Amino acid sequence: MKFFVDTAEIADIKDLAATGLLDGVTTNPSLIAKSGRDFMEVTKEICGIVDGPVSAEVVALDHATMMKEADVLRRIADNVCIKVPLTIDGLKTCKALTGDGTMVNVTLCFSANQALLAAKAGATFISPFIGRHDDNGFDGMDLIRDIRLIYDNYAFETQILAASIRHPVHVLESARIGADVATMPPAVIRGLFKHVLTDKGIEGFLADWARTGQTILK
Ligand code: E4P
Repeated sequence: MKFFVDTAEIADIKDLAATGLLDGVTTNPSLIAKSGRDFMEVTKEICGIVDGPVSAEVVALDHATMMKEADVLRRIADNVCIKVPLTIDGLKTCKALTGDGTMVNVTLCFSANQALLAAKAGATFISPFIGRHDDNGFDGMDLIRDIRLIYDNYAFETQILAASIRHPVHVLESARIGADVATMPPAVIRGLFKHVLTDKGIEGFLADWARTGQTILK
């Protein structure tokens, strides 16, 4: 499973990239607004930190303007992945861009039929939003499960990018189902490393080690 971080905060991206476990970054207009940074500048900076796909989202609603915006965004760096909403115009844009060799992440997916359409439009990634689905009384994991089944039935190459992840259990369930990628807020990625028994174990080992009076480094 690939790990993407869902943020436009440079300090977090640098810190997580240093682990060697970060495969890409996703942003959206809300995350750009939260960063307070210029969209083009911050996207360029992120693209220089990670080698993998960096999703940058168009804001136009019509196909012609989406294409123009995508053209500006894809010139930022080779690893820019254009993010489009799951609408008719978004999927027209997806088909045109992927046909041209540009990576596309289709976002705001809330049904397996929408995911089927995105795959038919040649999407590189489909982003089902688990947390927002849960918030509205649906089961986000059922959505991931249905999409996995459908994509496998037809050998679609579109990668399932589990999005709107709120906690480590969303990651665990997505991995069990076989989502290709999970995009997570920095705190969720950091949370994956943690276990109370790991901390307790280290504490016990260090206390016993101190009693030996030895050092490894002389
Ligand atoms: C994905 O690409 C989105 O940016 C993100 O996962 C949305 O998550 P949210 O529902 O926590 O805003």
